[in-house]
Amino acid sequence: MSRVQNVVIGSARRVAGWLPDRMLPGGGAPDPLIERQAELGRPTSRLDGPLKVTGRAPFVTETVLPGQLSAALVHSTVTRGRITRLDTRAAEAAPGVALVLTYRNMPRLGIVPMPGGANLFAPGSSGLPIMQDAEVRYNGQVVAAVLAETQEQADHAASLIEIDYAAQPAATRFADAKATARTPASILIEKNHVSVGGAERRLSAAVHRVDNVYRTPGHNHNAIELHGVTAAWDGDSLLVHDTTQAIVPEARALATVFGLKNEQVRVISPFIGGGFGGKGLWDHQIIAVAAARVAGRPVRLRLSREGVYRIIGGRSPSEQRVAVGADADGRFTAIIHTGYTVMPTYGACPEQFTMGTRTAYRADSFELLHRHLDLDVVPNTFMRTPGETIGTFAVESAIDELAAAMDADPVELRLRNLPDRHPISGAPFSQHALHQAYVDGAARFGWDRRTAKPGERRDGEWLIGLGCASGGFPYARMPGANVSLTLRRDGTVAISCSAQDMGMGTTTVQTQHAADRLGLPLDRVTFTLGDSALAASPMAGGSAQTASILAAVISAADRLRDELLKIAGADGPLAGLRGSAVRLADGGLAADPGRHDTYRAILARAGRDEVTVTGTGAPPLEFLKYTMHSSSAIFCELRVSEVTGEVRVDRLLGSFDCGTVLNPKTAAGQLRGGMIMGLGVALTEETLFDERTGRIMNPSLADYHIPAHLDVPDIDVIWTGIPDPHSPLGARGLGELGTSGVAAAVANAVFNATGRRVRDLPVTLDKLL
Ligand code: MOS
Repeated sequence: MSRVQNVVIGSARRVAGWLPDRMLPGGGAPDPLIERQAELGRPTSRLDGPLKVTGRAPFVTETVLPGQLSAALVHSTVTRGRITRLDTRAAEAAPGVALVLTYRNMPRLGIVPMPGGANLFAPGSSGLPIMQDAEVRYNGQVVAAVLAETQEQADHAASLIEIDYAAQPAATRFADAKATARTPASILIEKNHVSVGGAERRLSAAVHRVDNVYRTPGHNHNAIELHGVTAAWDGDSLLVHDTTQAIVPEARALATVFGLKNEQVRVISPFIGGGFGGKGLWDHQIIAVAAARVAGRPVRLRLSREGVYRIIGGRSPSEQRVAVGADADGRFTAIIHTGYTVMPTYGACPEQFTMGTRTAYRADSFELLHRHLDLDVVPNTFMRTPGETIGTFAVESAIDELAAAMDADPVELRLRNLPDRHPISGAPFSQHALHQAYVDGAARFGWDRRTAKPGERRDGEWLIGLGCASGGFPYARMPGANVSLTLRRDGTVAISCSAQDMGMGTTTVQTQHAADRLGLPLDRVTFTLGDSALAASPMAGGSAQTASILAAVISAADRLRDELLKIAGADGPLAGLRGSAVRLADGGLAADPGRHDTYRAILARAGRDEVTVTGTGAPPLEFLKYTMHSSSAIFCELRVSEVTGEVRVDRLLGSFDCGTVLNPKTAAGQLRGGMIMGLGVALTEETLFDERTGRIMNPSLADYHIPAHLDVPDIDVIWTGIPDPHSPLGARGLGELGTSGVAAAVANAVFNATGRRVRDLPVTLDKLL
């Protein structure tokens, strides 16, 4: 991303800053539905729940196509080098084998489209060629695929392939790569280097200051459902069942890579067993599609758990310097946040750790800078709450250190420095009530029970500590969201689009919204997603899908109203009224005073079986004009054993400010799940990357530890529920918000318990003894 981009985005923001609210989506007026909720706001269980618990929800690799082959992959065992000998004869002769695919017989393909200036929403994750030559660029790269009648035959044959490599020196050491770090001009859509007010100078002059380096390890994706794909060609048409967060972007990318027209590719993904940023477009989908073409038969390719670690990128490790200076009253005079993450030149996903630091606190000066290290690794990708998860660990630890150094209460110190607008650009917040979230959270958690001096509360061998931290995540809404809406003569409505439900409740919440928007009970509305043949909607990512599709449904409802008015006829109860005087309510069109015409009556009079309209979400201008940001106050109570150093988290509370909550049950589930992921970041998760060999050494859930049930305490989730006047329905995305801030709250509680400051995640017992 480039300087040009900085200029374009900077100008767009300046222009948007001048736009009057009436030119923003919704005319700048809060959505009337915020006050008129019937289905929305209820803790409705996921509508697809019964299908899932009875095993009737078909997941991708349960799809069995006639004549389908199963695939197994062979991964390189060197990090950088060339294949010098490749003997596939034994594999080809093994029972059931139909095809061995290597760079020798792989179709010649172009590079997968990567997100960037040309297409911000391209789904590619790696710019490396896929089995196009004998080069190896990272340890674990796919070097061969075996297709056989059964998975067992494919797995066995894959073990018979013999490969020699000429290994070359590889860049695998984080510390060494710092000497040649790149400094990108921009990170995602933000300018990378922010330098205002002379932060270093103000830091040296500050009355109170902290200045430390924090380290976080790599993390790997571990969705319950492994990555898997089924690909089938019918002549020049391609059908792909995939587990993906980006159905339409993937279909379009496959069309580009395989030289097809968009309409020749269909991607289906109705149920997804977790994504978290990891279910984009990677090598395995391309290999499956190519293999199906060469073999002339459908192919199913499912990654093993180890396979996911080898070829699906995770979160980059980081090294971050955070310095905070404060005056005698504890007001921040300087915030410095700089550091390094890995992003190879062929990757596209920076781990944007300075993003949250731009909006979290006010300060007289800022110095923010993010640098990329080139290592020979599978390119990292987005992973739940990218950037904020590890950025808040560093910044929120530093603020806790500052509070300890100046003998201030950590909540008080934060409240004293909350911003009332964007601390750097000055753009107003659309809505921001972190102060209230802190007050509510602290009261409910019993923050006043904390003793300021570490190590003073104990229960036998257990030292008890309380910690807190702020979290945050930006609001986003994606352009290009479309839905199709069909109203039938029986008064039922079917809405569809290509959206993705990874288990977070997309179908449920969108059905609730459509029901209220149209004035219908829940059981009269169906919402169908998961197929690129439906109206195109954006990928699920950046916690932006719900708002993006809400906006498209709002547009479709407006068009339905206009269309119904048109066909309602000159003798209906609403004859002569304009669209702006009519609303959708009580199963029909309504206007004051007391005028109403039911959907059924309108369609019957018009002799229509159904009416279909499409809606497109208005361009997301709101987040160019306003600072739109959710935030949280996280509180943690834990015990640390003086004997073993073991940490046991007893209580965790998240107090969130994220706009309207559309469904308290699915929202609490999302936030709680995010907080559990934060616990993993704090205490257990760590990709063990061998810097000598460039290989990940713990590619399994036995060796890579995620929190299990016994590690997860009572998690309390509350929210302010204050609507955002500038987002659809007043809601801001919350899928990723829960994770932000949790690692720091835990590390700060560990300090309060023991007096030990751990600046190097995860907080394992060896660091506390
Ligand atoms: Mo998220 S990391 O955008 O799935």
